[in-house]
Amino acid sequence: MHADRVSPPFITRVLMCHPTYYTLSYEINHWMNIQNQPVLNKSIKQWYGLHHLIIRCGGYVVYLHPKADLPDMVFTANAGFPYQGKFIVSNFKHPQRKPEEKEFIEFFAENGFDIIHLDVPFEGMGDALVLGKYLVCGHGFRTHEDAHPVLAKITGLEVISLKLTDPRFYHLDTCFCPINSELAIIYQPAIESFPKGITRLIELNEEEAVHFGCNSVVLGDNIIVPEGCPKLCGKLKAEGLNVYTTPMDQFILAGGACKCLTLPF
Ligand code: ARG
Repeated sequence: MHADRVSPPFITRVLMCHPTYYTLSYEINHWMNIQNQPVLNKSIKQWYGLHHLIIRCGGYVVYLHPKADLPDMVFTANAGFPYQGKFIVSNFKHPQRKPEEKEFIEFFAENGFDIIHLDVPFEGMGDALVLGKYLVCGHGFRTHEDAHPVLAKITGLEVISLKLTDPRFYHLDTCFCPINSELAIIYQPAIESFPKGITRLIELNEEEAVHFGCNSVVLGDNIIVPEGCPKLCGKLKAEGLNVYTTPMDQFILAGGACKCLTLPF
């Protein structure tokens, strides 16, 4: 591992990729419509808004170089799943995102991770989220169900397999967000059935779910929530969290928000 890339102890390293080449050049989810383009300077402003909050909340931002013609590379959550020195790289379902894999492999290999490839579709921390001793995994739109037992084997975590049912919430991180080992945000209608007794749940309503309330970034006692989710923010404050909000509409045009733009590693 390169010494200059090691973060200070107790600080989460967060991988982010500048939106230099962010645009809509194809449509691979419900939100994307190439007639409805993001404005680049607004996107950059929103990206820095999130970036600054992450630093303010104690995150240590590490930068992945953006690549021309890979507009979705800004969504680093989909790079893969880093766990205890291993990096399970994404195997994108859509051919449009496949060329990103090489960039993610290069970065994590350079940073000392052992790279693991899966032979079924898997979209990284978009569909795999740690909740205490559990690894909560989504399938149905992007990641294939067969990836789940493989993830269990590699990580040794107990996998909770969830079927996603609403095309607006095609990645698990658009309808589920662990806050700590015993608390999570959920938009229940997008998940076929969530097992009881795993965690306490903060329920999101549809209006705030479409503002990507579940796509929040958690850093210790801090949470960064996309703008437009006042009810959720009230509930989070009542839990004693420090709540920050930031506009994300330019990234919602591509089907992503705060969480999608980050990868803790
Ligand atoms: N346009 C991207 C895609 O459809 C958005 C990815 C959002 N990322 C996420 N972790 N939910 O793949």
